[in-house]
Amino acid sequence: MRLISGKTKVCGIIGDPIEHTMSPVMHNAAFDRLGLDYVYLPFRVAAKELERAVEGARALNIRGLNVTIPHKVAIIPFLDKLDPLAEKIGAINTIVNDDGVLTGYNTDATGFLQALLEQGIEPKGKRVAVLGAGGASRAISFILAQRGASLAILNRQPARAQELAQRIAQAFKSEVEALALNEENLAQVLAKAEILVNTTSLGMSPEVDKTPVPAQLLKSSLVVFDIVYNPIQTRLLREAEVAGAKTINGLEMLVWQGALAFEKWTGEKAPLDLMRQVATEALGHED
Ligand code: ATR
Repeated sequence: MRLISGKTKVCGIIGDPIEHTMSPVMHNAAFDRLGLDYVYLPFRVAAKELERAVEGARALNIRGLNVTIPHKVAIIPFLDKLDPLAEKIGAINTIVNDDGVLTGYNTDATGFLQALLEQGIEPKGKRVAVLGAGGASRAISFILAQRGASLAILNRQPARAQELAQRIAQAFKSEVEALALNEENLAQVLAKAEILVNTTSLGMSPEVDKTPVPAQLLKSSLVVFDIVYNPIQTRLLREAEVAGAKTINGLEMLVWQGALAFEKWTGEKAPLDLMRQVATEALGHED
């Protein structure tokens, strides 16, 4: 066990609820492996305490924070600087504190892209179907559009997909279609798509029998990325594999967003395999 000293740098995560976060195990294991004098703690912060929590982090000279639900958007006015992509997205998940100057980043977006690129998938110029139009979709859709993919966003409430598509089209002058998430539209979009990303919560534990896409619409030429990581192998990914598609699970995005935050705080390359291993183990112990 690492000793905490007067020199130990402190990082952490703020959210509410926070009990189920995988981030402390990933980051503390990574600090240990690299022999870095850092510690990472969970902080439950209620929405009404958010500004005070940010001021507290600044006053306590906390080196870095991750930010999770429900604070990813609301925290922005309390920061000093924003990375340009995070500014376009309008949400952050990582803060770096450089001598009292707090800068916000969105490593959900960059982590998602890295997870794709690591598997040899370059989204530039590809047709991508994104299911969902919530917070996760926002980060993913923005970075895909920035990278030069052409997007179709399908959502249960089509007005949300429309709104997101408009913001993206404004920011990148790119081609973005918005549709209702139903079988007919899925059939039409997936006939042409090369990559399918599920950002909805369909298939997440405990409703593991659900899937956003009927199995007969899946095909071997698709790359299917499901950002749900609990369970790691969702019904969508199982059926995609049966169809012969290449699959990427949500743990990859989780691990990459953590790795990219780690690198910003420490300046060291993150031990990705270790972070993946401890997150997998921790998920196995979830009740
Ligand atoms: P997150 O930050 O994980 O994206 P969110 O902002 O609450 O969470 O978004 C959840 C997404 O999952 C939304 O796209 C939501 O669709 P609606 O905008 O229509 O609500 C989608 N979603 C959740 N449950 C769903 C269900 N049973 N069927 C279809 N889509 C669902």
